[in-house]
Amino acid sequence: MEVCLVIEVVKKDEEIIFNLETKNSMYQMKVDKYNVLKHLWYGSKTSTDMEYLLDYPDVGFSGQINEVDDSTYSLDTLPVEYSCFGVGDFRVPAISVIHSNGSDAIDLRYQSYSIKKGKYSIKDLPSVYSNNDDCDSLEIVLKDTSSDIYVILKYGVFNDKDIICRSAVIRNEEDSKICLNKAFSMCLDIPYGSLDIIHFHGRHAMERQFERIPITHNIYEFSSTRGTSSHQESPSIIICDKNCNEEFGDCFGATLMYSGNFKIQLEGDQLNQVRMVMGINPDTFSWTLNHNEEFYTPEVILSFSNEGLSKLSHNFHDIIRNNVCRGKYSLESRPVLINNWEATYFDFDAFKILDIANTAASLGIDMMVLDDGWFGKRDSDKSGLGDWYANEDKLKMPLKDLVSKVKSRGTKFGIWFEPEMISEDSNLYRNHPDWAVKIPGRKPGRSRNQLVIDITRSDVRDYLYESISRIIKDCSIDYIKWDFNRSISDVYTYSLSSSNQKEMGHRFVLGLYELLEKLNHDFPNLLIEGCCGGGGRFDAGMLYYCPQIWCSDNTDAYDRSKIQYGTSFIFPISTIGSHVSAVPNHQSGRITPLSARSVVAMSGSFGYELDLNTLSDTDLEKIKQDIKDFKKYNKLIHNGDYYRLSNPNDDNFALWEFVSDEEVLVQGIIFRSEANQLRYNIKLRGLDSDKKYIDSNNNVYTGSALMNGGILLPKSSGDYYSVMIHLKKQY
Ligand code: GLA
Repeated sequence: MEVCLVIEVVKKDEEIIFNLETKNSMYQMKVDKYNVLKHLWYGSKTSTDMEYLLDYPDVGFSGQINEVDDSTYSLDTLPVEYSCFGVGDFRVPAISVIHSNGSDAIDLRYQSYSIKKGKYSIKDLPSVYSNNDDCDSLEIVLKDTSSDIYVILKYGVFNDKDIICRSAVIRNEEDSKICLNKAFSMCLDIPYGSLDIIHFHGRHAMERQFERIPITHNIYEFSSTRGTSSHQESPSIIICDKNCNEEFGDCFGATLMYSGNFKIQLEGDQLNQVRMVMGINPDTFSWTLNHNEEFYTPEVILSFSNEGLSKLSHNFHDIIRNNVCRGKYSLESRPVLINNWEATYFDFDAFKILDIANTAASLGIDMMVLDDGWFGKRDSDKSGLGDWYANEDKLKMPLKDLVSKVKSRGTKFGIWFEPEMISEDSNLYRNHPDWAVKIPGRKPGRSRNQLVIDITRSDVRDYLYESISRIIKDCSIDYIKWDFNRSISDVYTYSLSSSNQKEMGHRFVLGLYELLEKLNHDFPNLLIEGCCGGGGRFDAGMLYYCPQIWCSDNTDAYDRSKIQYGTSFIFPISTIGSHVSAVPNHQSGRITPLSARSVVAMSGSFGYELDLNTLSDTDLEKIKQDIKDFKKYNKLIHNGDYYRLSNPNDDNFALWEFVSDEEVLVQGIIFRSEANQLRYNIKLRGLDSDKKYIDSNNNVYTGSALMNGGILLPKSSGDYYSVMIHLKKQY
């Protein structure tokens, strides 16, 4: 028996058991006498060989591997650790390879393993990192029975955080090249249970909508082919027991640390088992692997909770905050910002920006962000992308002067870029028409009037890095908003031959990561906020480079409460860019009170996006106070434990709670009021039963009272009534 802190390897007769343990979970695999690596368990700790749960019914019609003469042993029904193709497992595979002879079968069997202290990294891709040895890693090597193709399964075990990371490396030691048509990061077979899927679908301005559906005998697919992780589907999934809720029950979550095309497949099979596989979308992918080359798949972050969905979210929030986000701002308070987009759209000059910035400074706002329209010839979305130099005629002063005037009030300065795009009406396009993504002989589709620029090319990346870094340096920029406002169609790159154009999607993502890595490395104090027409690229891959992401172009408080609800299942509150905007709201036309807009935006990386100079003195005073409140509670909001106290899709209110060792903040909005309104009684969560808590009116409650008896929400009056209750723990 070989043991490291969290990885135990037990060898018994012809079998080897791998047992990965975290504080509250156990992940078990077994190499059997045929060297098939079976998956036995992912769930609560049991201290048991979980093989006893496997039923071996007669499945003769499912087929057997060549060396077995036993109709109860079939790859088609066994739970396996990494599912193969073409050798008798007819469920969804994790891998598909075309060999030099044109055949496409692969039968991976166990070869060896190794254990390492610390967390493995993944070449050219973002991955979860370890702090102070909080992780141990296991590598299991599998090999095809009939070729020299290897798959190395990687596991990073974060004991304290209840997180297991997974990724796979495919190595070709054949003399000739092979073609990978599918190379997924992981497979998880669940041989028991009656389960639901929770996934997060959406559209532009309505991202990450929560949906819970039962798993039946079917194949479910959640995916993107848009070149980004997309508005339409999030690369995250939760599988839970039917009776699982926020507080009780078993659930697993998985999120892919990748910002491009992905696919999650879930299959309910003939034995009522469930298989989940996840990785780069094979519909838009293939990869040529030459002799001795390796392919690295993106990381999946996995977690299990036996205390319901809130605990699962806490696990994800914790790992993303501490082991995914990097740099100065990963845990530090972010500047409260004002962005001019909804205030001015393209219609501004430096004086208008200064007017907004001056008022912002007087209210306690920390940073002015100059959005789209400051560069090239850009007065609408029809031109200018790619010409990343300031339009001083439009600004009516050098950008540098505008920045220093804003900074003279002690305000930081941020600026918008959309580096991966090009307008046909731009000097860049006129000089380099071949830099745009388009297929020779086919007229490219436009979206938001623009084309995508080919960042798989190193000359394009060099141009972009040089343009962006020049502005950052020359103008002392503190923050950039990195936008991406269309999906990628007409996929073709001159940098690849005609036979491997399907590598383009992944190479595009690698190009993006290379650029972002260089900026992170060269400008350690720069805060980068991700954006993609709002939240169309909100994933753990981007969060490795940008600790916050603009969550949605929808700033309406009611819609946002649902968008942020869905986002919160996996992503920490500190990563959610959220702004107060004007009413009627520009996206929904809805009018909500300023207090409702503030409370929703505060539950994120907080900011404003409206012309402050059009507001009444009363509103400005309220904003001043809200900023003070946010700064007071910022640490608690960003680093405390987050509890969803309602489901805004079903309830007449959106309510949430932040809890730290010292204090509690309950925030939310009651959607519709009615006459003679009854007050809602809400049970708080995560408190110390035996301790006392005092509210701002000096009422004192025990934690037990607040959690078992609850608290009465204020009597609401008018629609979208805001709630903000702060309690301090007494020692
Ligand atoms: C996208 C972003 C917006 C804004 C505009 C500018 O839609 O999500 O916040 O930056 O682009 O064109």
